[in-house]
Amino acid sequence: MTVTGSILLVDDEAKIRNALAQALREDGHEVTATESPREAQRLLGRRVFDVLLVDNLMPELTGLDLIRELLASTAESDRPQILLMTAHATVESAIEAMKLGALDYLQKPFDIDELLVVVNRALDHQRLRTQHRYLLSERAEEFNHYGIVGRSRGMQEVIKTAEVVAKSKSTVLITGETGTGKEMVARAIHYHSAQREMPLIKVNCAAIPENLLESELFGHVRGAFTGAATSKKGKFALADGGTIFLDEIGTMSPSLQAKLLRVLQEREFEPLGSERSQKVDVRVIAATNRDLRAMVTDGRFQEDLYYRLNVIPIQIPPLRERRDDIPVLVDHFIQKHAQRAGKRIDGIEPHVLEALQAADWPGNVRELENTVERAVVLSPNSLISPEVVRLLGVSSSPPAGLPSLNLRQNLDWAERETVRRALETSSGVKKDAAETMGISQRALSYYLAKHRIE
Ligand SMILES: Nc1ncnc2c1ncn2[C@@H]1O[C@H](COP(=O)(O)OP(=O)(O)OP(=O)(O)O)[C@@H](O)[C@H]1O
Ligand SMILES: [Mg+2]
Repeated sequence: MTVTGSILLVDDEAKIRNALAQALREDGHEVTATESPREAQRLLGRRVFDVLLVDNLMPELTGLDLIRELLASTAESDRPQILLMTAHATVESAIEAMKLGALDYLQKPFDIDELLVVVNRALDHQRLRTQHRYLLSERAEEFNHYGIVGRSRGMQEVIKTAEVVAKSKSTVLITGETGTGKEMVARAIHYHSAQREMPLIKVNCAAIPENLLESELFGHVRGAFTGAATSKKGKFALADGGTIFLDEIGTMSPSLQAKLLRVLQEREFEPLGSERSQKVDVRVIAATNRDLRAMVTDGRFQEDLYYRLNVIPIQIPPLRERRDDIPVLVDHFIQKHAQRAGKRIDGIEPHVLEALQAADWPGNVRELENTVERAVVLSPNSLISPEVVRLLGVSSSPPAGLPSLNLRQNLDWAERETVRRALETSSGVKKDAAETMGISQRALSYYLAKHRIE
């Protein structure tokens, strides 16, 4: 595919200028040709060109000087791609021009085919730069609210509720499948509340053994149980004045549910082994990927507690029910991981994006992010191609919960997900993660290296 564009051609030699202009026009481009660098400066100040093709040695001003002035006087967004033409003897100026920011150079004499190839490549670059900038601004202005990316109606709803609830101190219950962004929404609420300077304390109820969770939440006094050599503050006390985020609340035992209900009702609690109750002023945000209402019906979750938690419900839809979000998320993650990897990635081929948009993503946004991250890391060029994503085994209708029908890939996926989640629930403490997984720390190190998890 050839792209056509607007080209400003500057060369003082009429014969060359006319020949080049004609060839470029025949190739479909819009060409403005001038013999005068001064005139070129005026034109560049007045309108935007896609490509500036400039000779170096001219009587009024050299091509290099013109480039320098252009770079100093225009914003990056209004700049053309710059191509310098030089005679054999002045390759140094070509190198100088590239250092300044020119895209390429042509060494005179060159043939027309060579010129067309170089110009077309410059136009490709220009088009990607424009697209890229458009996506960036589109994302920044419209679809990125506190780092929550989403344009679908479902996510807009979530964002709106989060915005409103941030202004209050109401209890919030966030529900959604794994990887839909529950923790991210909880953080957004805290950091947009009046308590943002106060602590946000996270407790993962599933990661802490039941017998330790109570002391973790409420603290204990010295001698409260065997091994309690000193007294310890609980997470509620630490979160005083701020927010406590109770993740995976659905796994909490009935006895703790009762204690939590009391904190929500009375705003006070007793540390283990203490008679004295302590007042706290905290906002509670709870999250779960389980159906709490069904658990109430089955008698596995206390009804009163459910209503106390469900003051403001926020339900995050699974990614497969908001496929409109996929393109903006993909773009967001490309930027994020390209920057991290120190790579330049301009985008993704359209049918690769279609495949990503058609996939079911049982692991939701987290899984999409992992896929994009690997694509960015593996991509040999600046446009993510179908080959790269095929390597990652994205298929559009995976069996429930698994990414593909390939056994090896699924085993790998399960291994990686288990390690990743164990690390997440243990806040990155490897010893705890290994214990949670029931493996040795050495085995964990092996899996970390194997899956390149940091
Ligand atoms: N709308 C979004 N915009 C940008 N990033 C997102 C979005 N949703 C999720 N993410 C990213 O996906 C990852 C998973 O999100 P998060 O940890 O909040 O999910 P979760 O619902 O808490 O999952 P789990 O139930 O497994 O704990 C995070 O890295 C988060 O930054
Ligand atoms: Mg979470």
